[in-house]
Amino acid sequence: MNSQLSKIAQDTNFFLKRYINKQSNSDLMSAMKYGLFPGGKKIRSKVLIDIGFLFSIKYKTLITIGAAVECIHAYSLIHDDLPCMDDDKIRRGKPSTHIKYGESTAVLAGNSLLTMAFEILSSRNLELNEKIKIDLIKKLSECAGHLGIAGGQYLDLSYEKKKISKHRIVEMEIKKTGKLFSFCCAAPAIIKKKDIVEIKSFEKIGSQIGLLFQIADDLIDFRGNSKLAGKKTGKDNKKGKATLISLLGYRNSIKYCNKIIKNINNKLNKYGKNKNEISDTLNYILKRER
Ligand code: IPE
Ligand code: IPE
Ligand code: MG
Ligand code: MG
Ligand code: MG
Repeated sequence: MNSQLSKIAQDTNFFLKRYINKQSNSDLMSAMKYGLFPGGKKIRSKVLIDIGFLFSIKYKTLITIGAAVECIHAYSLIHDDLPCMDDDKIRRGKPSTHIKYGESTAVLAGNSLLTMAFEILSSRNLELNEKIKIDLIKKLSECAGHLGIAGGQYLDLSYEKKKISKHRIVEMEIKKTGKLFSFCCAAPAIIKKKDIVEIKSFEKIGSQIGLLFQIADDLIDFRGNSKLAGKKTGKDNKKGKATLISLLGYRNSIKYCNKIIKNINNKLNKYGKNKNEISDTLNYILKRER
């Protein structure tokens, strides 16, 4: 798993570096690169590649789409760390973008990474027909906006220090984190022009994977090994974040995660052995320490 992930990270970073370096320089470029590289695990790209494998989609196509997703993810982390949001000073083992470049530069570099994602999806680098590209862009914009990351981040902040029901915590975690995974799972079905029912069913699988991913992130925060995590831990409790752990406790949250994994595996049974990759990724998501 780790060697596969580092290959994907390497290929994605190679693509993104070449893509950015082809553009004219600007005063924001340095902060954008700082937020993107060396970057994180590239787990969203891995999920995209695992699902893409079920649909026999070319690796290069998946790396390009994954690069767009990673731009949005990097933007969301830059903004998540701002003083007006989680106010975190360390990200990926180094000072957060706003600590290094200042708040206004971090906001603008984040905005630029968000729009760069759509530039990549509409570029010639991506060898897909235009109708499919528009469908991908439409889906990704839905997942990033008020019904996805931005809306979820709003809920996350507004739920601080409040007693929130399980249903609403799950809804918030699916929006802030799950929706980007929804895109990763739906994209291969969109590329293969599957019907809306199949696309929706992969979106649903993606939001469950994202929910699993966020609960596992909350577990990492709870366990508190900040060195391994590359970011401060124990902060959810301090800030009064509404998480499943705060509601159900540590052990029950792990049980909840195992149920999610079982349900997803059941749904993908019809793909036989081809589903082993995504199954391994699900186990990795829960067991990881960063
Ligand atoms: C962290 O995401 C933020 C969440 C959505 C929980 P990752 O754990 O994927 O961050 P990187 O990209 O590997 O640093
Ligand atoms: C971040 O969730 C979710 C995003 C969409 C950025 P967290 O706030 O828990 O992520 P970390 O723990 O700071 O990485
Ligand atoms: Mg946050
Ligand atoms: Mg945070
Ligand atoms: Mg967290």
